Amino acid sequence: MTWEKKYRLGILWQDFQHEQLINHIETMANAKEKGMEKIEFYETMHFLERYIKEHFALEAQYMKQHNYPKMLEHLKEHKIFIDDYRQFKSNCIYEDAKSPKELMMKLSKWVMKHIMKIDKELADFLIEKKTI
Ligand SMILES: [Fe+2]
Ligand SMILES: [Fe+2]
Repeated sequence: MTWEKKYRLGILWQDFQHEQLINHIETMANAKEKGMEKIEFYETMHFLERYIKEHFALEAQYMKQHNYPKMLEHLKEHKIFIDDYRQFKSNCIYEDAKSPKELMMKLSKWVMKHIMKIDKELADFLIEKKTI
């Protein structure tokens, strides 16, 4: 679940944000073992949601700006993820020892799959368009 070089797509802002995302998901997955306080736990959950939304918004901005042909498909994936995250969030309870870990495992799987396919296609497109 940790960040690896293979997730680097060649776009600086995108790679930086993906690394941050994965690191925060990992922190949450180990929150209980590391003795994270309740308040910090919920703050990190909120932070993660905000960060994901900002990241998706930035990708959307680049897609629009450069008339990315697969934009609709990409945005649809983001929307599904946001909806899922909201639902997961309401089921993710600090007192429950298992749920945060299960949730974060699910999220990280989705994020990594998304980075390696959908985001990679976007990154290749942006690199080819010489947007960076
Ligand atoms: Fe992304
Ligand atoms: Fe994306």
